[in-house]
Amino acid sequence: MPGLRSRAARRAYVEISSRLLGGLPNPSRYRLRQFATRAAAQGGSKDFRVLDAGAGKAPFRGLFDHVTYETADFGQVNKTYAQLDHVCDLTSIPVPDCSYDLVLCTQVMEHVPDPIAVLREFNRVLKPEGQAWLSAPFFYAEHEKPYDFHRFTQFAWKRMAAETGFRVQEITWLEGYYGTLAYQARIGAQSLPNRWFVWRVLLALLARHMTHAEMKKKVLVGMPKNYQVVLAKS
Ligand SMILES: C[S@@+](CC[C@H](N)C(=O)[O-])C[C@H]1O[C@@H](n2cnc3c(N)ncnc32)[C@H](O)[C@@H]1O
Repeated sequence: MPGLRSRAARRAYVEISSRLLGGLPNPSRYRLRQFATRAAAQGGSKDFRVLDAGAGKAPFRGLFDHVTYETADFGQVNKTYAQLDHVCDLTSIPVPDCSYDLVLCTQVMEHVPDPIAVLREFNRVLKPEGQAWLSAPFFYAEHEKPYDFHRFTQFAWKRMAAETGFRVQEITWLEGYYGTLAYQARIGAQSLPNRWFVWRVLLALLARHMTHAEMKKKVLVGMPKNYQVVLAKS
């Protein structure tokens, strides 16, 4: 009978922790979809023009069938992109002033070296009273390297909005603390060395529990993982 700390037992624990994490929903993507659904509801006809800025795979395209929807992205990361209408840097979008009613920009601002220049460009391409719907991480691992430059506090968002000609209409947490904790527990369960096998299983259990809790309820204690922000062109 192998002991609790034998190599085989450790491997079994690590296997258990990855099984516990398998097939879980991603609460951030769930909440982003809710956010994008609200953005889409701002428009009522094809006269309403939307730019998905930094669209990547354009995961929310299907929500915008009732309006005119375009994508922009620089297409530089080694990944698959959706068909892009504008291949450009977000500091220089090749459209005239006042082209769009709404700019959607989810999980992009952390990747641009100069977010102020990007917000100024959004302001330029938006019609008067047009809105920018944005989200970005506050607490998240580096990703899409080397294009990862910032994490934003709510105060950074307010300051950037004021500097670029926007009024803040909303700044809230994208997901609640259960989502933040689920994310951190998942990282521990996946990355602690194998000798921490018992903790890996416990963290996987915590990640599982917190993921389901986040899907049920957004609780604003602790700290956020992402902020969601709605700005209006002043
Ligand atoms: C994390 S992905 C988010 C994609 C999509 N908005 C979403 O929510 O799934 C970030 C995207 O920003 C794009 N991006 C990063 N820096 C950019 C820049 N300076 N100009 C244009 N696009 C940029 C990347 O190519 C990538 O598709």
